[in-house]
Amino acid sequence: MQAVKIADGIYWIGANIHTEDLFEGIWPIPKGVALNSYIVKGDKIAIIELVREWAGAHHILLESMKSIPVDVKDIDYIILNHLEPDHTGFTYMLHKLAPNAEIIATPKGAELVDGFYEIKNNVKTVKTGDTLDLGRGKEFMFAEIPNVHWPETMVTYEKSTKTLFSSDAFGAYGVHKGSIFDDETPDDHKPYWEEEMLRYYANIVAMFSTSVLKAIDALKDIEIKTIAPSHGLVWRGKPEVVVKKYIRYANYNQDYAEPEICVVWGSMYGNTGAMLSSILKGIASENVPVKIYRVPNDDPSFILGDVYKSAGLIIGTPTYEYEMFPPMKYLLDLLKKKRMRFKKVLFFGSYGWSGGAQKDFDELSNNMKWDILEPVVFRGYPTSEIQKKGEDLAAELARQVKEIPTKIKDEDY
Ligand code: FEO
Repeated sequence: MQAVKIADGIYWIGANIHTEDLFEGIWPIPKGVALNSYIVKGDKIAIIELVREWAGAHHILLESMKSIPVDVKDIDYIILNHLEPDHTGFTYMLHKLAPNAEIIATPKGAELVDGFYEIKNNVKTVKTGDTLDLGRGKEFMFAEIPNVHWPETMVTYEKSTKTLFSSDAFGAYGVHKGSIFDDETPDDHKPYWEEEMLRYYANIVAMFSTSVLKAIDALKDIEIKTIAPSHGLVWRGKPEVVVKKYIRYANYNQDYAEPEICVVWGSMYGNTGAMLSSILKGIASENVPVKIYRVPNDDPSFILGDVYKSAGLIIGTPTYEYEMFPPMKYLLDLLKKKRMRFKKVLFFGSYGWSGGAQKDFDELSNNMKWDILEPVVFRGYPTSEIQKKGEDLAAELARQVKEIPTKIKDEDY
């Protein structure tokens, strides 16, 4: 593998991972993921973000390093912005290969360097405003951005090139498709990146949206020419585009979403499913965009992406053993955990001997700031009156969703 030059003395040496493994052990990544790692060369040599030993990533990293050329044993600093093992799994081995290198992390990061890798020596802690001079004009400044994505996270800013190594912030799922840069991304790849970035945000970052907005505010006075995250594209053409995208994503669980509806349904014997066409007819009558998912057939990772951005949410689920259908209960638990709040919501579903799904729904929707229409719950197969009620309520939900103005629009890049 060849390193990719980003600016004078700065190189990308990451790995594009194609795997059937789940990201974080939960999330499918059928389009892969990039683990971005960077070398910065002054008189001293720093590596920023590592990889984990996953699908050959560590081998790719070492080969890319050689192509610069940098000899691994000459590395002076290992800068760990964030300790999650997708970026630090290789720390233990790299520490052996570069025995003189000093590990740089926040104090909380240093605790995890010890906790994950049992490394205590040659670890230096930094805090917001601290600097590190590499010589030959390369100088870093560090800034803590707690909870984007873990409490120990920081960013590293290289002053001469105005490059922000932003860790998970501004990242995405997806492998690079021919170029690592935003300004070399063909138009027909942009929907791919939007989808992979939004799903990554909804799966990984959504819960920390308040911290994302705080971090963006804290960094607003720093002049940035290039954003180099630990996943996804390197933004050197229009870094402001990805900042604006992240502001839009962070607002999706504040009080803003797109005027669209996501319908998620599950059915055991077709009775709850029999309502679906009435629900969709109601939405279609108002011409509102809709995404439809079925549980457990569709993976929650993909459902989260569309639920997250949609102002409207319709949940259809039967009762199963006095409770909500388990795959729907799991999904709603994730929506709560990821704080997918401020939605207009309709609930429907069938039961046999007793209800129970609605009781779980009431509990799981508590404190979600959802504006919930009258539920449509019925025994067995929905009568034509019930189906008409579902259609009318779905149309009402669609009318409410249509009134939401689009506040934050993307710029092209
Ligand atoms: Fe890509 Fe939170 O690690």
